[in-house]
Amino acid sequence: MYYSDDIIAEVRSRNDILDVVGSYVKMTKKGNNYWGLCPFHNEHTPSFSVNRGKQIFHCFGCSAGGNVISFIMKYENLTFQEAVKVLADRAGIQLPEREATQEEKQRQSRRARLLEVNKEAATYFYRCLRSPHGERGMKYLSDRGLSPETMKNFGLGYAGVNGREVIDYLRSKGFTDEEIRNSGLASISEKNGLSSPFWNRVMFPIMDANHRVIGFGGRVMGDAKPKYLNSPETDIFDKRRNLYGFVFARSSRAGNYILCEGYMDVIAMHQAGFTQAVASLGTAFTEEQAKLLSRFTQKVLLAYDSDGAGVKAALRAIDILKDVGLSGRVISLKPCKDPDEFIKTYGKEAFQERIDNAENSFYFRIRIIYEGYDQNDPEQKTAFYRDIATKLCEEFLEPLERENYLTAICEKYKINTGQMRDMVADYAAKGAGIEIKPAPQQARARKVSETDGARTAQAMLITWLTDETGLLPAVKRFVTPEDFTDELYRKVAENVFAAIESGSFDAAGMIDRFDEEERDAVAGLLQAKLPEMETQEERNRAFSDIILRIRENSYKIFCDNMGDDMSKFGESLQMKKELEKLKKSGITLI
Ligand code: UTP
Ligand code: MN
Repeated sequence: MYYSDDIIAEVRSRNDILDVVGSYVKMTKKGNNYWGLCPFHNEHTPSFSVNRGKQIFHCFGCSAGGNVISFIMKYENLTFQEAVKVLADRAGIQLPEREATQEEKQRQSRRARLLEVNKEAATYFYRCLRSPHGERGMKYLSDRGLSPETMKNFGLGYAGVNGREVIDYLRSKGFTDEEIRNSGLASISEKNGLSSPFWNRVMFPIMDANHRVIGFGGRVMGDAKPKYLNSPETDIFDKRRNLYGFVFARSSRAGNYILCEGYMDVIAMHQAGFTQAVASLGTAFTEEQAKLLSRFTQKVLLAYDSDGAGVKAALRAIDILKDVGLSGRVISLKPCKDPDEFIKTYGKEAFQERIDNAENSFYFRIRIIYEGYDQNDPEQKTAFYRDIATKLCEEFLEPLERENYLTAICEKYKINTGQMRDMVADYAAKGAGIEIKPAPQQARARKVSETDGARTAQAMLITWLTDETGLLPAVKRFVTPEDFTDELYRKVAENVFAAIESGSFDAAGMIDRFDEEERDAVAGLLQAKLPEMETQEERNRAFSDIILRIRENSYKIFCDNMGDDMSKFGESLQMKKELEKLKKSGITLI
């Protein structure tokens, strides 16, 4: 159901961001803003700020940001529509109801019934485990070191000794055979009629973020195959989007998530106090799952099995995490096979140490490559170096970062840095599609900080302008939205300029008009740190600095893009002249 802009604006205006945030995080006033410990990453000194005037939040540590709706989305892991509903309820606003179509109603009730079937089945398995009937299951789980409390938390159960008991139970609860089949808990065969593949197994209910059972994993209690059976995907069970243990991990506040392979690993870690552990659902880690995690954390630690398959899966997971902007670190479990075994053998303190010493994913990748080559064979050694050069190019598009890793890796593997630099350049030249100019490190560093400086100035200008909308005429004398060189910055500037001009600027409202992935950055632009400005003179100086930095950057970019196009030469001269003139005459606010 899509709500109108008016309704959304009302929901925002009747939920003051400080009140809402304040009910989750203790906020203290300092200067113009309120500060607290960021709920989206782990920290000890507050870098999470709320600007009450603009009704937005921004964390200077992890860059999370947005308005009151984005806050609820992030904190409670809700969609936009769901967050609006929560806030409307909180403020006592009646949201308009739209009559659902027949089809929607059917779908909703179908889903609701499926959830019911799963819930009843989970109850059945749960009771069964704790009855004389489930003794074998109970012994198996206890022997694996699970406490009664852990078993209860995870709702563990036992599927009866044959595949009909649970069916009979579900029928007695009023579910039709079709509903039972749709839940994936049973199938029909000519020989047995309706029967469940889950029998004589310990059962792991799989919950979504709202504690609803959406599927099951069932493990044999010995060495039979398959070791685990999982519910098939259904209308309510989407294996790409859910993670085992996420329902608890989301409130863990550890500041990171630990991603592992197995249900038992998740449970063992939670039991040892590592409640930030999650696992994919008997399938490979997906981009959707990575996105889900990225809404809650910047830090993902991988605790994949240490065997060949586990390493391969970890490398794949690292790539997926990278695609959504997360850099994973890898926990070494050696000499054990998995987290469950490690904790059982060495205890939780040792595991915490392994977390603290988790390896940067790039080092991990290079180490795996290293282990694959015989370093005594010159040919293989060269191949190893080539691989490093390739990976450096692929992984780091920013020259400074690449150079830093290059130096570190060379030191680690005793490689001549000059040679490696040449190789990297060579590799790039051979058409990797990445342009890499070998240049001394210092020059590279300067280039990066120049762009950063211009971006900072652009962000400061947006923040300042939205603090004091009356500055627009002064700003417009020197800068247009085209001077904002990053696409998102430009979009924000265009919005801000236009809104101020029409007298309708509203920071929190503007944020909703951007895509969810962009909102953090937009809030950051509206809450950049400004220099201290007490006197008019300080204000003028700050203004002049900002404007000049922006204009110089525009000029540079124009020249960079000009190439050999002589027709643009005149224009560039003109820009340069104007810039010189500005510098000489000085820039003041009025
Ligand atoms: P593992 O074989 O590592 O199992 O598979 P595990 O979780 O460590 O369990 P224990 O300790 O041997 O009891 C990792 C995950 O792969 C999926 C399950 O999700 C399992 O948790 N899997 C494995 C299956 O779906 N089916 C299988 O037959 C095996
Ligand atoms: Mn395992």
